[in-house]
Amino acid sequence: MSALPQKLGKLSSIFSKSVQQAQPVDALLSRLPLTLYPVSAPEEEIIESVRDYELDLFSKIPPQIKSDFVNEKVDINIPNPHVFISTDRERGTNKYVIIEPPLDQNSILIYLKYIKELERRLLEEGKEINVANVVKEVSLKSKGIAEFTGNRLILSIPARVATYYLLRNVFGFNLLTPLVSDPNIEDISINGLSSPVFIYHREYEYIPTNINFAKLSLVNQPINGQDLLDQTLLRLVYLAGKTISVASPIADGMLPEGDRIAATFRREVSVKGSSVVIRKFAGRPITILDLIISGVMSPEVAAYLWYAIDLRMTFMVMGVTGAGKTTILNAILNLVKETNKVVTIEDIPELRLAQDNWVQLTARQAYGDTGKEISLMDLVKLSLRYRPDIIVVGEIRGAEAYVLFQAISTGHGGATTFHAYDIESAVKRLMNNPLNIPQEWIPMMNLGITIRRLPLVTRDGKIELKRRVVAIDEIVEWNDFRRSVTWDPKLDQHRLEVDSAKVMRARLEEMGKGLDEASEEIMRRSSYLSRLSRIPSVVQDPESYKLVKRYIVKYSMKPEEAMREVSILAK
Ligand SMILES: Nc1ncnc2c1ncn2[C@@H]1O[C@H](COP(=O)(O)OP(=O)(O)O)[C@@H](O)[C@H]1O
Ligand SMILES: [Mg+2]
Repeated sequence: MSALPQKLGKLSSIFSKSVQQAQPVDALLSRLPLTLYPVSAPEEEIIESVRDYELDLFSKIPPQIKSDFVNEKVDINIPNPHVFISTDRERGTNKYVIIEPPLDQNSILIYLKYIKELERRLLEEGKEINVANVVKEVSLKSKGIAEFTGNRLILSIPARVATYYLLRNVFGFNLLTPLVSDPNIEDISINGLSSPVFIYHREYEYIPTNINFAKLSLVNQPINGQDLLDQTLLRLVYLAGKTISVASPIADGMLPEGDRIAATFRREVSVKGSSVVIRKFAGRPITILDLIISGVMSPEVAAYLWYAIDLRMTFMVMGVTGAGKTTILNAILNLVKETNKVVTIEDIPELRLAQDNWVQLTARQAYGDTGKEISLMDLVKLSLRYRPDIIVVGEIRGAEAYVLFQAISTGHGGATTFHAYDIESAVKRLMNNPLNIPQEWIPMMNLGITIRRLPLVTRDGKIELKRRVVAIDEIVEWNDFRRSVTWDPKLDQHRLEVDSAKVMRARLEEMGKGLDEASEEIMRRSSYLSRLSRIPSVVQDPESYKLVKRYIVKYSMKPEEAMREVSILAK
């Protein structure tokens, strides 16, 4: 089962005489900043595992680096980390065990040589460093760690291990890098110094890992976990373009790859020491078709929302943190007509629209003496001057809620998300302190979409957490909601009741249309979406949100032709 370390063990005999003289490595290591230590989670015996898989370190390393290795003709067959989902004996739960390539004295020495050369070049050349060339030059200078085969440079096992740690530390986040590169992980939380790092795994939910900053060592020397944690956090915050300090101990932001971080520094506001949450960026935006395929909503529900947004009905998505509110908001916004102008306003830019006429605004904190804070509320006010058709606030929490309601009460389209369990509690919270939305403004928000994650029994009898739109309410008055979409937990089925769509009916009547006509159109769009969701080349495209948009535009221009096209393509 633990194939990786064994494989490495066998292969390491290929280059037997690796490094000539043994030197004490701890003295050499002590010159390095902690984040460059090649430290990893302690080895762990794996008795049984429910699943194991290999990770691709290169998935999180700039593509340029990989091409540099190819160009320099250095074999980059570096060992990858391996994940085991095993049992945590203390807790009796699943546990995420990451095993990285094991280091020995040789590989540490090679690693140190790489770092030293890297430092030298950084000081001398100061700009872009070709890491592949560093690995090549150093390996050629030292005896026994690399050999030419044909014209390719093959590294010895210790040199490959050293290269692994080099890439991991220079381009990653030290021992958190494997977690960040695991596509099965949705978020990573470090809750303090002495508890294990927890992850949210797509299949196993929140489970502990074998990484614990308080229990790290390298070549039998204990590592100062507090310092390593603080330095890792500082690096993350720095990469997000933010600062954190004792004076200002909270930070949030976005890493260059799109992952979001939030952090607290030392014990200033978090009792157990520095804490960090990394919420991973889903590689490509989840589309309405993905939501249909995974049963979050039915094609009819999606078509109803598509129709509603064409009528410029306003909506808010409700649910708890992580329920999938922002995801649904994004998927619906990608159904907006191309002729509409959308302005989005967020704290952290999460939304990704395939709309060309889209202004994306983000708030910022005050910095220094001169940097003025720009709040969500400032941006909502500003957005009105942009003549938007639809104003989107990523999430309403404070003063921006009032301004958003004000904006939509003057006839703008609008959408947002709101942390609430259901429509009743949402409206109650909107009307009370600190949001204080006047009662008569509440129906300016036309639709309330409630999303939850709930345990469902799958076909093979297992229980799994699934996301489901559990209700859509049309808001007639602050105390009068008409449920147009319901969800049956037993059958796991959505039901659209157009007759309850009182707000939509009123909107249609203003335009001289009736609900019957709307209902027929919703059914047509439903079958259109349903067919689209059965076209693998559309659904699986890495940029599928753009393709979906194209098909939405196509339908709005020439519905019959578009329908014909997808009918042919659908399986
Ligand atoms: N339907 C879905 N399928 C797969 N992943 C999802 C889905 N909805 C949300 N996610 C993932 O779950 C995480 C939280 O979703 P998000 O929409 O940000 O939640 P919220 O806004 O309610 O806090 C994100 O990583 C997101 O990519
Ligand atoms: Mg959100």
